[in-house]
Amino acid sequence: MRTLLIAGNWKMNLLRSGAVALAEALAARYPQTPAGTELLVCPPFPYLIPVGEALRNSAVQLGAQTSYFEPPGAFTGEVANEMLVDVGCRYVIQGHSERRHVLGESDAVVNRKVRASLERGLKVILCVGELLEERQAGQTERVLDTQLETGLKDIEARAAAGVVIAYEPVWAIGTGVVATEQQAQSAHAHIRNWLAGRYNSEFAAAARILYGGSVKPENAAGLLSQPDVDGALVGGASLKADSFSGIIEAANRVLEDNS
Ligand code: PGA
Repeated sequence: MRTLLIAGNWKMNLLRSGAVALAEALAARYPQTPAGTELLVCPPFPYLIPVGEALRNSAVQLGAQTSYFEPPGAFTGEVANEMLVDVGCRYVIQGHSERRHVLGESDAVVNRKVRASLERGLKVILCVGELLEERQAGQTERVLDTQLETGLKDIEARAAAGVVIAYEPVWAIGTGVVATEQQAQSAHAHIRNWLAGRYNSEFAAAARILYGGSVKPENAAGLLSQPDVDGALVGGASLKADSFSGIIEAANRVLEDNS
């Protein structure tokens, strides 16, 4: 059965009261979700615990936005996967474009992080995506291949089953410029094809590939209707209960139409 994952990436937004209020609003709306939709929010580290408490008894799962690849130890300022598991996280995002391009994370670091998170039992949302100049130069697929190749290096199929890929064209993140449905579908199909080559066709068919970059209630249904789009990673529109819910409702409608 087709399923869709709708994930909110709150980035470095909200303070405690706003984070808890948003989580409470989502928990009230989604004590459970229709079969096929999976919900996730990824708040900033300091609010994982209160947000997790607000989400208890709801269908909304808790995730984090990154983590370090070492086990707990002398790594000032970092957060270990063990700690994320301990506070109830099921998922962690790795390789987000802001980590790559603002914080300087290399493909090799992203790979170490993905491996460490999987080893600690977290599911990983591995983000990939091209810059505007790379797209304009016709390099989108080459960039995706490199990020997939290095991001999933030394990760065999059984472990890789815990990885969700998020295709996030960098030019669409936080810009209001969303990829067209055709651009998203074509990149997603390319990624699925790459996964079939790297692993096998059953693996690729079961893999989840999310689209991220200016997803809003108004454009969600069109994107989620694409055959290779298995959900959305939502930044700005995940910061308000109404807009995040609008995207969730769009996902539910797409699944109903498909059934
Ligand atoms: P956006 O962010 O929805 O605000 O474009 C998406 C993301 O960075 O995951």
